[in-house]
Amino acid sequence: MAHVISTINLKGGVGKTTTTVALAETLSGGFHKRVLVIDLDPQTNATTMLIGEEKWRKLNDSGRTLARLFKDALEPNNKQFDFDAALQKGVSDVSAAHTIDLLPSSLDLIDVQDQLASTPSGKFYSVNPIELLWRAVKSKLDDYDVVIVDCPPNLGIITLNGLRISQGYIIPTIPDILSTYGIPQIVTRVREFSQEIAEPIEPLGIAITKYRAQSTTHINGLRRLKGEEDAGKGPHVFDTVIPETDAVAAAAEHLEHQRTLKGKYPRGLADSYRSLAGEVLAKLEG
Ligand SMILES: Nc1ncnc2c1ncn2[C@@H]1O[C@H](COP(=O)(O)OP(=O)(O)O)[C@@H](O)[C@H]1O
Ligand SMILES: [Mg+2]
Repeated sequence: MAHVISTINLKGGVGKTTTTVALAETLSGGFHKRVLVIDLDPQTNATTMLIGEEKWRKLNDSGRTLARLFKDALEPNNKQFDFDAALQKGVSDVSAAHTIDLLPSSLDLIDVQDQLASTPSGKFYSVNPIELLWRAVKSKLDDYDVVIVDCPPNLGIITLNGLRISQGYIIPTIPDILSTYGIPQIVTRVREFSQEIAEPIEPLGIAITKYRAQSTTHINGLRRLKGEEDAGKGPHVFDTVIPETDAVAAAAEHLEHQRTLKGKYPRGLADSYRSLAGEVLAKLEG
């Protein structure tokens, strides 16, 4: 059975997408897992990191993104979403990571999210709007070992669609006040949602990103998160810490030629992501 996880933080810019893509590439290239990335963020960053902007534009122009899935719910007589047409197979510019598929996102998801939120539930003709993604992908998930859903930085309907199919979630965060501020709210809201749908959705852990070992703020922030974990008041904090480095930012550019994991994630980064992926797998399989 596939392990399905979401990456969530209410703050943008904390490394959610970077972590999603690096984990996908490491799980595929380093652990030989079949991985599906579901990009639910209208920012479309995971999509352009994995297939490049040009290809994304073509897909977007022909309605082959997840925006179409949600638009279908708003236009029940005009169903157009086609899973197989939207699914991009063998994405990523990492040569060893050839077992990653992608369901691409679209900027149109911003409008769709607003429309979904303002549509009276009766208009969905018995389809619960939080189950749209689940209905579309449930029969396909077991083609994969790990499915990672990159969620937008909010707890709206689109994010709930991601959580609906997830058994667990990861919270990437910079260890500072503003980035960690929303974590208790995420944990509480996801717990409530999990109870509502009567399916377990476990917090797998907080993944520390953009860590600056010289920063007192970061040192104290990390200590505080671990203290909360030890006191039973906060989620687990993964031991692996992803440092802030230009190499990560540079890795965001999709290349037309293939590179190795260590080429894309140089100076020990590939090892850091391998270690984080190992911790995530241990949580999922343990
Ligand atoms: N470890 C890191 N070191 C340096 N820059 C990083 C790191 N992780 C992410 N970034 C950069 O920070 C920005 C935000 O990261 P991103 O993953 O897009 O965040 P989010 O998805 O949470 O909005 C991007 O420009 C990304 O390249
Ligand atoms: Mg993002």
